[in-house]
Amino acid sequence: MKVAILNKPGGLDQLAIEERAEPGEPGEGEVRVRLHASSLNFHDYAVVAGAIPTEDGRIPMADGAGVVEAVGQGVTEFSVGDKVVSTFFPHWQDGPARVGNFATTPGDGIDGYAREQVVRPERCFTHAPEGYSHAEAATLTTAGLTAWRALVVDGGLKAGDTVLTLGTGGVSIFALQLAQAMGARVIATSSSDEKIERLKSLGATHTINYKTEPEWGKRVKELTDGRGVDHVVEVGGPGTLPQSIDAVRIGGHIALIGVLTGSEGEIPTAKLMARQARLQGLIVGSRAHQKDFVRALETTGIRPIIDRSFPLDGIADAFRYEESGGHFGKICLEF
Ligand SMILES: NC(=O)c1ccc[n+]([C@@H]2O[C@H](COP(=O)([O-])OP(=O)(O)OC[C@H]3O[C@@H](n4cnc5c(N)ncnc54)[C@H](OP(=O)(O)O)[C@@H]3O)[C@@H](O)[C@H]2O)c1
Repeated sequence: MKVAILNKPGGLDQLAIEERAEPGEPGEGEVRVRLHASSLNFHDYAVVAGAIPTEDGRIPMADGAGVVEAVGQGVTEFSVGDKVVSTFFPHWQDGPARVGNFATTPGDGIDGYAREQVVRPERCFTHAPEGYSHAEAATLTTAGLTAWRALVVDGGLKAGDTVLTLGTGGVSIFALQLAQAMGARVIATSSSDEKIERLKSLGATHTINYKTEPEWGKRVKELTDGRGVDHVVEVGGPGTLPQSIDAVRIGGHIALIGVLTGSEGEIPTAKLMARQARLQGLIVGSRAHQKDFVRALETTGIRPIIDRSFPLDGIADAFRYEESGGHFGKICLEF
């Protein structure tokens, strides 16, 4: 089978394709999956670019989707032929968050899904939504589930709420789609007027170009008649959090998800306190969250927005494209 690996010290030119032996029969409680797709996340980019050190020869990619082609003894949830999608935390099945690092995350602490086949315990997968392509399913593991947890699990999103999304990457576009499907209004930002037109066509109620309007927090306040938004899906980190604090309503919720502007910085803590806003960090979600999310996708009919797909041996080009920032929504690998 074909696999993509990352050689030390990392960097896109250290990605290579090699042939490996097929993984054999699944053992007790395991399934063998023929993988057909993965999707790119900023975290995968940090790994392959060498910013997050990993083992020499690591198989990258946290997200994987495909078909069950063999089941071991004692497997209860899957049968041969089922379409499945991987989970981000193979050991966090349900209950409150219990993992605070990436030591067990495919494509980082353990080998990921840039490969044609894998044998893993069944708890490493859930069913894919009915009718989804493998590429669509592969967008759920990281980006989709993070948006779901931010808004629904942690945020308690309800009809009539207003959600602020930042930029047009994978997590933010999922957040926009979920918020809309659940009866919320969306204020969305982007650095590109062209992408802003696409945000409008996806149903964003208001849009702001965060480059030409650097004080976008104030603008969000104006657009909500001085009230502020109920939820912010904060993918920027220290460079955007002060504006997000300006934008959130008193008692609102900021899901602190991303580090697009860096990993530490100055935060106006007194303003956050006065806002009485809830600032909650989060990393993706549990397998139980993913099952709820899959059910919600089947009910709402949401389909992920895929900007472009690349073949497995085009993995470095796919990451170069992500690096360019030209994408809107998700970039996938299909094989
Ligand atoms: N905590 C978690 O569980 C979790 C899960 C998934 C992702 N993340 C994090 O969330 C962030 C986004 O991930 P992703 O996979 O969605 O990335 P992505 O698809 O690569 O999205 C990047 C997009 O973010 C926007 N952006 C860049 N700088 C920005 C800024 N200063 N202000 C507002 N928007 C900005 C740009 O949109 P425009 O081109 O429209 O400006 C860019 O296209 C990353 O930091 C990632 O590590 C965290």
